[in-house]
Amino acid sequence: MIMKLVLLWVLGLWSVSGIDLSRSESFLSYLDEEVTMSPGSTTTLIVPLTLIQGAASKGAVCLDGTLPGYHLHRGFGSGANSWVIHLEGGGWCNTIRSCVFRKTTRRGSSKFMEKSINFTGILSNKAEENPDFYNWNRVRVRYCDGASFAGEGQNEANKLYFRGQRIWLAAMEELMAKGMQNANQAILSGCSAGGLASILHCDEFKNLFPETTKVKCLSDAGLFLDATNVAGGHTLRDMYEGVVTLQGVQKNLPSTCTSQKDPTSCFFPQNLVSNVKTPMFLLNAAYDAWQVDQSLIPSLADPHGLWRACKTDRSHCNSSQIQFFQVREKRYLVRE
Ligand SMILES: *[C@@H]1O[C@H](CO)[C@@H](O)[C@H](O)[C@H]1NC(C)=O
Ligand SMILES: *[C@@H]1O[C@H](CO)[C@@H](O)[C@H](O)[C@H]1NC(C)=O
Repeated sequence: MIMKLVLLWVLGLWSVSGIDLSRSESFLSYLDEEVTMSPGSTTTLIVPLTLIQGAASKGAVCLDGTLPGYHLHRGFGSGANSWVIHLEGGGWCNTIRSCVFRKTTRRGSSKFMEKSINFTGILSNKAEENPDFYNWNRVRVRYCDGASFAGEGQNEANKLYFRGQRIWLAAMEELMAKGMQNANQAILSGCSAGGLASILHCDEFKNLFPETTKVKCLSDAGLFLDATNVAGGHTLRDMYEGVVTLQGVQKNLPSTCTSQKDPTSCFFPQNLVSNVKTPMFLLNAAYDAWQVDQSLIPSLADPHGLWRACKTDRSHCNSSQIQFFQVREKRYLVRE
């Protein structure tokens, strides 16, 4: 039985900080899902970065050719054979220019990644903060390809490697060897661009395991919609088209979709989720702040600032503006 749940946080504001709205190309590259919450005063669990040494020989490298990596904290007790994998997010790069720039950041090169990070939320080892998964094996896979772990190709002239799919495979292979092959249950999760990746790779993840392993997926803020912006344009689709084309994503998209639709459409979850066989939980705010700001009302689509007040505070929207959001919701979200 296929379980699909769409949880809507109506009026929930997904906080994405530090985005400069005036630079439409770079914000797409810099979307970052970090929302740091460390309740209480207990010390935070700090987990070192492991580079995947065997990745280079498989061509599974970051945009700049450096090794990809992950952070693993071992499970214990009743969670010793349970695994939760979290795919990191952080926007995409859709042009040579934005990918070349990304090479100089932690989202495109392990040279610039934090050598250790704090494990909080679903990755926390504290029962009070993370009651369901605190004693599972918890992994954060770093995102350094810029195409939601799904690209395949390279650009010689600019020394860019588009190896998202190989990074995904190399990371899974390494984690299987480190004990994930004995998992009796496993979850593939991810946030933002990583949430999209968790949808794209959900069935592949399930197929890594024997039938007896209980496998599920969780996409957190990964339900990016193929929406029309306030000026009638398609900001996100235009950007995704660049990602898919530049990074050779098409060959890694499910053929159940690509046999019916163009490749860019098949990078949108709305055209994928009905074909995912593995139980998947979709968590997304109906008024996802990033999608409202960057996809529905990007600054370029609102040159006179008519939407500016509504965009930053929903209580400032008039009835037709609210209607605009509602139509989007009905069309894409509330089905099944
Ligand atoms: C990580 O945790 C340490 C120690 O609790 C804290 O000082 C630091 O600010 C945290 N870093 C981030 C990025 O939250
Ligand atoms: C709502 O505001 C927009 C932008 O200022 C305007 O074009 C529209 O006519 C307004 N609608 C209503 C019903 O007031």
